[in-house]
Amino acid sequence: MKINHVVEMQQFDTTLIMELLQLSKKFKEGLVDDCLLDKIICTLFYQPSSRTRLSFEAAVLKLHGQYISTENAKEFSSAAKGETLEDTIRVIGGYCGAIVMRHDETGAARRAAKVSSVPFINGGDGIGQHPTQALLDAFTIWEKFGQLCNLNVQFVGDLQNGRTVRSLVYLLSKFPNNRFIFTSPDLLRMRPDILEYLQRHNVVFREGNEIDRRCDVLYVTRVQKECFPDPAIYDSVFGCYVIDNPIADSLPEHAIVMHPLPRVNEIAVEVDDNPRAFYFKQAKNGLFVRMALLKLIFSDNWGIRPLVF
Ligand code: CP
Repeated sequence: MKINHVVEMQQFDTTLIMELLQLSKKFKEGLVDDCLLDKIICTLFYQPSSRTRLSFEAAVLKLHGQYISTENAKEFSSAAKGETLEDTIRVIGGYCGAIVMRHDETGAARRAAKVSSVPFINGGDGIGQHPTQALLDAFTIWEKFGQLCNLNVQFVGDLQNGRTVRSLVYLLSKFPNNRFIFTSPDLLRMRPDILEYLQRHNVVFREGNEIDRRCDVLYVTRVQKECFPDPAIYDSVFGCYVIDNPIADSLPEHAIVMHPLPRVNEIAVEVDDNPRAFYFKQAKNGLFVRMALLKLIFSDNWGIRPLVF
């Protein structure tokens, strides 16, 4: 039987993305569904999370399922005794119908999916990918603009270590005529694999250090302290961009400011009441998108591309 793992955005095509967004919209509009009535979902988190873990757990409850959870698996699972990730996943698969995992190591999601006997969802792995974040980002953009094409999307901040940015670029580059602006300090530029992917697929992009006011979406990211072994280097880039109301107001009237959250200081609190601020709506949308995803992973005929190991 086919097992629907969700590990990276390359597994999705535009039809599948739109199917998921349409279902997310129905959940947002109040669709009631008990598709998880007989199911237990495990949320296995080796890294801190507020939104991803709690919105998945809320989604499970909304779909009448139950969840088991470890929020600090590094300390509170047998990883602390030296158990391998593969052994942990094999064992947990015997207790639940699906696993949602966050891990600090890039590639951990693929390793886990490879041995998982139940559907596995990547809730973020190292600096790799965070596909469910990209899907909720896309839902937020689609809700605002009614389309996922012909958009100027600017990514700002730590583009080197940001897994949400990587997944969203993969997602949006599947739709026609999107153009990307990558704005970062030189030290935190987007990694070459993504730039090469865009070149291969003839997607227009440019890199720079200054915020460009001509964009439809300003997607701001945190400089991730945990990714800098040398505090001096972190200090040299911390606070490199701070979006305040003068900057937000200088964007086109229709533009939106997004952020996967958590934020530190890269969006001033004063922007929260600005009509362009969409980051809290974005976080709330995570619930509906994750409900849709949890429903679809249990569909035998869901068209997600299987992972090739
Ligand atoms: N955006 C996001 O992944 O948030 P959490 O780290 O709180 O899950």
